[in-house]
Parts: sequence; C-alpha cells; structure tokens
Amino acid sequence: YKAQLDASDIEKGTYPFYMLKEIDEQPTVMRKLTQEYRDDHGKVNIDLNLVNEMADSDRIYIVACGTSYNAGWAAKSLIETVTQIPVEVQLSSEFGYNMPLLSKKPFFIFLTQSGETADSRQVLVQINQLGFPSLTITNVAGSTLSREAKYTLLLHAGPEIAVASTKAYTAQIAMLAILTQAIGERNKTNTSFDAFYELSIAAAGMEAMVDEKERLSSLVEQYLSTTRNAFYIGRGNDYHVASEAALKLKEISYVQAEGFAAGELKHGTIALIEEGTPVLGIITDAKTGPHTRGNLKEVESRGANTIVIASEDLAREDDQVILPKVHPLLTSLVAVVPTQLIAYYVSMQRGYDVDKPRNLAKSVTVE
Ligand code: G6P
Repeated sequence: YKAQLDASDIEKGTYPFYMLKEIDEQPTVMRKLTQEYRDDHGKVNIDLNLVNEMADSDRIYIVACGTSYNAGWAAKSLIETVTQIPVEVQLSSEFGYNMPLLSKKPFFIFLTQSGETADSRQVLVQINQLGFPSLTITNVAGSTLSREAKYTLLLHAGPEIAVASTKAYTAQIAMLAILTQAIGERNKTNTSFDAFYELSIAAAGMEAMVDEKERLSSLVEQYLSTTRNAFYIGRGNDYHVASEAALKLKEISYVQAEGFAAGELKHGTIALIEEGTPVLGIITDAKTGPHTRGNLKEVESRGANTIVIASEDLAREDDQVILPKVHPLLTSLVAVVPTQLIAYYVSMQRGYDVDKPRNLAKSVTVE
C-alpha cells in the first residue's frame, strides 16, 4: 500500500504562492489532526506505550530548530499545565554540543516538520546512545528522525512546500495538545482541558483570521511598506508567538525583526526605537495585557508606530487586529495567523519570491 497524495495538496491552484495556500489550510489541518487521533468514544487514540512512557518521565525535553523550536516554546506551558511535568525547550544545535545535566527519567520530543534536520538528528543519535526514550513529531512519514526515534506521531498537515513554515507550526502545537491530553488523563493531572473541543474552537478562530487578508494587507501597506526593521513584543505565550512572528518577517521579507519579551524591551533594546519603527504588540492574556500596553506606550512616546494584535475580550477600540477568543493555553494558534499573513504581505508587496527566500532551504541536512 502506498499512500496516495491528493493532487490538490501539491498544486497551488489559484494561489499566487504556496505560503498563502498553506496559511489557509491551517483550520483544516486542525480538524484533520482531530480525526486522526480521536477514537469513536471521543478519547485520544495514541500508542499507549508512548503515553505511558512519557507520562512516567520526570522531565520532557523538546529539541528542535527554527519554527519548530518556536512551536516547542508555544506548547511548553500547555504541556506543563495539563501534565504537571516540567518541560525544557532546547535548540538542537546548542543542546547537542552542550548537553545540560539531564533529569533522572527524561523523555525527548523531536519537533521537525521535515524529519531530516541534521542538527536535530545529531541530538537524537546521542539520545539513542544514552538509551533514553524519544518521540519524533513530524510531517513526513518514513523520514530519518521518524525512523530513528522510538516513537513517531505524524502531523498530517499535507506537504509544506513554502520554505517558511506555517501550517507545520500550528500542527505541532495541536499535536502536542492532543498528546498532552492523553498524558493528563493517564496521570489524572488534567482537570479541565479538553483538547479536541478546544482545537475545534481554535480552528474556527483561525478560519476567521485567514479571512482578514485584505485588512492585513492594507495594514502592511500603511505601517510596514518600507521599513527595514520591526519589533514584535508580548509576554508569556504572546512572547513566544512574537518570536515566531519575527522569524517569519526575517525569513521572507528580509526585514530585520526581533521578537521580544515586552518587559525586557526597556532594559536595552528600546534604544533602537526611532521615529516610525513598527512595534507590534500581541495581547491575549488578561494578566499581562496591561503591562504590554504600557510597554507599547513607552515606545510610542519615542516615535514608534504601534500595532496591537489583541484577543477580543481584551481589545480596545483602536486596536488593529482582533483575535477570536480561544482557550488561554492555545492562543498561539490564532495569534500566529495574522503575523504569518503580515510577513507574507510584506514579502509580496516588495516583490520577493515568497516561497523561495534567499539563502534558505526547506530542510537543512548539514550541521
Ligand atoms: C530550516 C527551514 C525552517 C525550519 C527549520 C527546521 O531552516 O528553513 O523553516 O523551521 O529548518 O526544520 P524542521 O524540518 O526540522 O522543522
């Protein structure tokens, strides 16, 4: 049996670029993941050996590069809240050469869209030598990291062709939410999180966001058309989305962008703010939202053009992008979508090849 590729998966159709098509596919990918991993009784259907081994670990290490690394950060507090197991997120290219003191019963998760990233693979080789259990979460069945890890979970996101990763990022977070649900049930640490229900809400929210294309395109024209640098700021999960948002801007639009923990900006980086510097604030958390707004005020008074991306319950009238409300542990799924579209429009409006940015490869098979 050979898996059939649906022709629509690898054709652009009416889309000018694969990236836009892949951004649009994200709500569908959320639903696909639910179909793949939910049994007939509404329970999580994942290999019990994997669930037990992970549930019995005393620390989860997520090892990844690039966008997958940012997805790891976006899922950290979700995993910790639902499983009560501490999570460390590590860059493959650092971790492999400077391994920290490991816990007694570590469990390793390799996040990799392609399953071929050499930096991540060299860590897996070491982890296998040490005899620790590992899971690869990947979009590519039969890929190297999938073959070499003890367990694999597939993202079922369909081929991702644009070099800049979008749907793999959100699929990784959703996959971790489903896996986390299974661990939380096994260890009885989960009190209220219902992954499948929350993912369906998130999918609807993402759908609403991908419909904001025109608005986001004109926002880009207004604030980002000629800028050479930009900042994204946020706190907690919003900070992790800010990091991914900035990476997208750098990758495809060559804007020097930085994702910053909002509170840290004033401890140095604020020196870079000049007249007209775009600073985009992400606000989805009632606890930190007012502080991030304060930080936006600080940069505004130094000449920055501020753009607010806020969830509807926290939004103010003049905020530029309003996010539909989703579970607090899954806000990155909706908050990232407008930032993907912003990066897309900056690149497109400047006439770049959005899908094939300079100097980058879809998967990097050298260390
Ligand atoms: C390359 C790509 C990035 C990607 C990273 C990790 O650098 O250009 O978009 O995030 O590799 O790839 P992986 O396949 O391991 O997720």
